[in-house]
Amino acid sequence: MTDLSTKYMGLELKNPIVVGSSGLTKSAKAVEQCADAGAGAVVLKSIFEEQIVHQVEELASSAGGMWHPEADEYITAYGRESAVADFLELIKKAKKSVSIPVIASVHCVSAGAWTEFAGKLEDAGADAIELNVLNLSSDPRLTGPEKERVYHQIVEAVKEATKIPLALKIGQQFSSPAHVLTALSESGVDSLTLFNRPYNPDFDIEKLEVVPAKHLSNPDEYVSALRWISILAGKVNCDLAAATGIHDGAAAIKQLLAGAAAVQAVSTFYQNGLSRLEEMLSEIESWMKRSGFETLGDFRGKMSQSQSENPAAFERVQFMKHSVGIE
Ligand SMILES: Cc1cc2nc3c(=O)[nH]c(=O)nc-3n(C[C@H](O)[C@H](O)[C@H](O)COP(=O)(O)O)c2cc1C
Repeated sequence: MTDLSTKYMGLELKNPIVVGSSGLTKSAKAVEQCADAGAGAVVLKSIFEEQIVHQVEELASSAGGMWHPEADEYITAYGRESAVADFLELIKKAKKSVSIPVIASVHCVSAGAWTEFAGKLEDAGADAIELNVLNLSSDPRLTGPEKERVYHQIVEAVKEATKIPLALKIGQQFSSPAHVLTALSESGVDSLTLFNRPYNPDFDIEKLEVVPAKHLSNPDEYVSALRWISILAGKVNCDLAAATGIHDGAAAIKQLLAGAAAVQAVSTFYQNGLSRLEEMLSEIESWMKRSGFETLGDFRGKMSQSQSENPAAFERVQFMKHSVGIE
């Protein structure tokens, strides 16, 4: 018997595939479809800090120069009156319609007044919270440690407001990712989701307009998470979830071998439909049978750097070896 169950942030998941925050989880109906497709858990489409702040009528005082005045009109439209109520209703309805864990998601940039709202997510029935923290380091006056402090402030404030597990979905743009992520793992978070795939602006050179860059990932993008989960597994004080570029069962298996407790996917479901999820699970199951593994615990982290016989394979030595052979 192959057992795909996993424990993620203390939650019992029947399998490690989590449908990530996106339009695929924006309604109770959509969440139900994810559960029917076999998902181990879902992360709901995010509510934005700006929407929460707008609603609690603290925009002016707590924004503190976070956005330009020209953006006010956009924020007013975006943070429409019912956004918070709608989000809480989504959690309640989703919890009623599925038995898998429902993880609420907030897209945030600061530890402002919005963090008090986190308690409401718990009251609405969310099993956990994932914070997608976008901390674009575009202000030349701010140092790395100053920016990193924001993450700790956010975790501290949200932890104070809730008791449910907390995940931080985070980018890799740090001068010392191992240091920053290890310190965050000691901050009280229950999991780090590595990595987010932030919206990037692109240019339309005919209209001279800024347009969104391609929003779906490619199947070769999974390697960044793979490297860092391999390096960090067994060394951090929280779970690790892999995200970005996981399009098939093989990519999911690799993240588990690296040490991930769960694997999030989005783009592959947009491209191939939710039936892809069942295919991924079958791939994992048949690979486990072939390899003689009965549970995820039998192989999780087996290829992490700390368990590797060749730890240098994750670092510069391998890069040198590989590059020298490339003409
Ligand atoms: C259409 C779309 C909407 C998304 N919305 C959110 C969101 O609201 N919050 C969030 O944290 N991530 C959001 N994401 C990012 C995904 O959760 C995920 O991190 C990203 O797509 C990388 O994973 P993938 O390679 O499996 O697509 C969105 C992605 C897509 C494609």
